[in-house]
Amino acid sequence: MTIPALAPVRSAVIPAAGFGTRFLPASKAVPKEMNVVLDRPAVQWLVEEALAAGVEEVVCIIHPRKAPLVRHFSPVPELIEAARRAGRPAVEAALRRLEELAGRVRFVEQSEQRGLGHAVLCAEAAVGDAPFLVLLGDALVRSRTPCALQLVQARERLGRGCILGLEQVPRRLTDRYGIAAGEPTEIEGDWRITDLVEKPTPAAAPGDLAVAGRYLLEPEVFERLRTLAPGKGGEIQLTDAIRGLIGEMPVHGLVYEGKRYDIGSPEGYLAACIAFARRDPRFRKVVSASVFAKC
Ligand code: G1P
Repeated sequence: MTIPALAPVRSAVIPAAGFGTRFLPASKAVPKEMNVVLDRPAVQWLVEEALAAGVEEVVCIIHPRKAPLVRHFSPVPELIEAARRAGRPAVEAALRRLEELAGRVRFVEQSEQRGLGHAVLCAEAAVGDAPFLVLLGDALVRSRTPCALQLVQARERLGRGCILGLEQVPRRLTDRYGIAAGEPTEIEGDWRITDLVEKPTPAAAPGDLAVAGRYLLEPEVFERLRTLAPGKGGEIQLTDAIRGLIGEMPVHGLVYEGKRYDIGSPEGYLAACIAFARRDPRFRKVVSASVFAKC
């Protein structure tokens, strides 16, 4: 018997259509995905992570109010020329690199706010009948291996099916996350998922493994999303669509290596900036204890 080859993961979806309510009023005119972490906006870190996982195209789901994201990924040859004339080779190189990234990013508008599941459904035509990654705009992950690549590598050992990036969370916080129940496999970090619940109370939670900002999904999830009734908060929930696939196809979890920062709030964003700076030789000095002491 021959085992069918695994379809390659060609696209990644970044849902970025939300209003950023936890970051208002800062996110009123500047989408939270445009908040700068060190030297580039958060969305660029996400696009770079997706491309490092080997995808060809990144589909950003945006609301019409989020034009700055489109502008960030639009070519502006005059800026490259200005950096060249000003004798700023590092800036020029960074702009050229951004133009390369921009060639791989496309935008799809979600004009109504109907939840994460609905946002992902908006990517259906762009993604097609193929597996795809989802990187939530709120989650930046610092890791040795890019987080999205860890999911693609997990797919190579686990085979066809959905894979959820997981993180263990304190039980009292289960009502902030999709919570998974499952059994560990023989490989450390890999779980077989048996149940999923969106934002359960600690008493109702089937465990303490939270869905943490990264997914690798099969196209069957679109069929589920199309017919799904609104769930928690009256929204079309991605968690519910994936739950519906359990039993129909393998659904696995991967407790990924790395630390996730919830950059959808000022506290998490500040923590991300400090953590990213600490690990970057260009910025490390600025956040050293001695400099902090003088602030
Ligand atoms: C979303 C998902 C939830 C997941 C969380 C963090 O919730 O619905 O299942 O655990 O992201 O990845 P949100 O934070 O958008 O309310």
